[in-house]
Formats: sequence, structure tokens, C-alpha cells
Amino acid sequence: MDIITTVLDQQNYCKSIISNGKEISLIPTMGNLHKGHESLFIKSTENSNRRIVSIFVNPLQFNDTKDYAEYPRSIENDIKILEKHKIDCLFMPNVKDIILDSENKTEPLPDYMSILCGQYRTGHFNGVFEIVKRLFEVAYPSLVYFGRKDYQQILLIKHIIKKYFDNNINLVECETIRDDFGLAMSSRNLHLSTN
Ligand code: PAF
Repeated sequence: MDIITTVLDQQNYCKSIISNGKEISLIPTMGNLHKGHESLFIKSTENSNRRIVSIFVNPLQFNDTKDYAEYPRSIENDIKILEKHKIDCLFMPNVKDIILDSENKTEPLPDYMSILCGQYRTGHFNGVFEIVKRLFEVAYPSLVYFGRKDYQQILLIKHIIKKYFDNNINLVECETIRDDFGLAMSSRNLHLSTN
């Protein structure tokens, strides 16, 4: 598996794939990979695209600095999981390189982004917006994979694809994966106690 850490290298890598007649599937994550992510990796084997997974804990989407600091990180184990799934490339940029001082931060989002989860997590979806749009600009994907667990995030991805990529990216929505108790798999479940 190739591991790429800079935006420029990732763009060059993707351009070379495309110029060789292949397409790219992108699976954005924040790492601490679990069975939910693995279901996206499995789904992404249904075509012959080159498969790129990004791991980036995006500070812009945390409205609580403690939550950001404590977000579970497990890169060595994540790499093992990606290799097991024969992912072609891991993109793991650093904050300074991937986050631009762009006008995106003030970009108004559709009204429906400020209800439900958006009502309680000020700035969260603006942060998701900024990083996802940027990842799409860096990786030139024709297919992107996201879990239905984050329903409102799926709506935001559809908005980004329509408004900024002329609907030229196909979104693959993947089913929610649950544990034996019915709880949706999530990296933050590590913070839950067993009783
Ligand atoms: O769903 C997530 O893990 C994140 O919100 C995403 C899409 C990777 C953006 O940081």
C-alpha cells in the first residue's frame, strides 16, 4: 500500500492514475477503523477503481477541543486493516497542508444543515464541508463511499457534489453496521463503558 502525506504528492499520484485510464474511489475517514469502515472497503471492491482511503482527524469539525484531543487514534492498527483489505493508497495529510485559509469557512450551507445534529454541534458541518470538498479536490474521485449512519452528513456530501463538482462524482451510500446490541459502529464507542 502506498502511503502519502502531502497534498501535492497525492494530487500527482491521482493524476497519474487517471492519465493511465483508471478511475479513483475515495473513502474518507478519521481513522480508528472498525467494522463500519470495513464494510465501505468491502463495498468498494465492486469495481476495478484504484481505492484510496484518507485518514485525517479534522480539527475544524470538532466544536469541543477536548473531544478533538481525545478522539481515538490508532494508526498502526489502521494500516494493518487497510492492508488486509488491499487498499491501494492511504492519504494521511497533516493539518497545515490540507487545511487552507479559504473562503469555504464562511460558505453558507443549506438550511437543513442547521437542524438535527447541526443544531447542537455549532460549526461541525462547516468543518465537514471544508475538509470533504478539499479531499475531493485533491483525490479527483469518480466514486466516494460514505456510511448512512451519518444521515445529515450524506445530505451535505450530495450538496457538495452537486454544487461544486457538477454531479460528476458518484456517491455510494453504505448501510449502517451495528454491534450485537444494535448500537451503530462508531469510533467514539470506545469512550462508552460496558454497563
Ligand atoms: O464521517 C467521518 O468520518 C468524517 O466526518 C469525514 C467524512 C471523514 C470528514 O472528516
